[in-house]
Amino acid sequence: MSVGLVPTMGALHRGHLSLVARAMGECDRVAVSIFVNPRQFAPGEDFERYPRSPESDLEALAGAGVHAVYMPAVEAMYPAGLSTAVHVTGPVGEGFEADLRPGHFHGVALVVTKLLVAARPDRAYFGQKDAQQCAVVERLARDLDTGVQIVVCPTVRDGDGLALSSRNQYLSAEDRRRALAIPAGLAAAATRFEAGERGSAALIEAVTEKLRAADATIDYVAIVDPGTFMEVETASPGCQILVAARIGTTRLIDNLRLGSDAAPSAGAFHTT
Ligand code: PAF
Repeated sequence: MSVGLVPTMGALHRGHLSLVARAMGECDRVAVSIFVNPRQFAPGEDFERYPRSPESDLEALAGAGVHAVYMPAVEAMYPAGLSTAVHVTGPVGEGFEADLRPGHFHGVALVVTKLLVAARPDRAYFGQKDAQQCAVVERLARDLDTGVQIVVCPTVRDGDGLALSSRNQYLSAEDRRRALAIPAGLAAAATRFEAGERGSAALIEAVTEKLRAADATIDYVAIVDPGTFMEVETASPGCQILVAARIGTTRLIDNLRLGSDAAPSAGAFHTT
């Protein structure tokens, strides 16, 4: 009997439900965890105001037919005296998001390890939107001989191209319109890649141009090898273009695998 685990922090949207649907299609039993993990929020981040909607989450998961929902209290996850850390080193665990959100991946790696131990799944499901998180989790699952297959599922987007995120709730109508510069920038880079451009600098410029026009604050735009998270000067199919930018006070991330993902564009996506 195969077991699938879908780790979440709740405030479930269609992106999470696509992971659940994939797990339901591939596994005999599916467990979903809902735990807003305090350890992965850097000091001053949005832990307190992170959206929480347990009732509607449970309703959606019941509707999806999942077999178990795990909602541990913080004290159950992190009992007094807990002294073990899980750190993924090298560019995968230390660059980009780790630089900007100190301690973030230490929190993610610890909680995901504990969830894998608790559920002992055959497969665990994560969304590609959090590309570096996927790389961190793949690395730790392999390095710690968990035997768990990490399944990375495509980013789900709204009809206008914006990647679904629980944090989209923070955007005002005007900021949400400005946030479309992120998928538009990725689409522009994808178009240039399809037209033969391979220089990372030019592809990055295609993204930053859109972000600047929307007055977004850029944390980083980079092209990396998806396995190592090392930056590349020359992009090849499969390389990931990463974006992190702030629109007003809301920080959003997105990414695209050059040459393989469909470029996000308004009208190309359907809301259900
Ligand atoms: O992607 C998330 O929602 C979280 O980072 C995860 C994987 C559930 C760990 O808390």
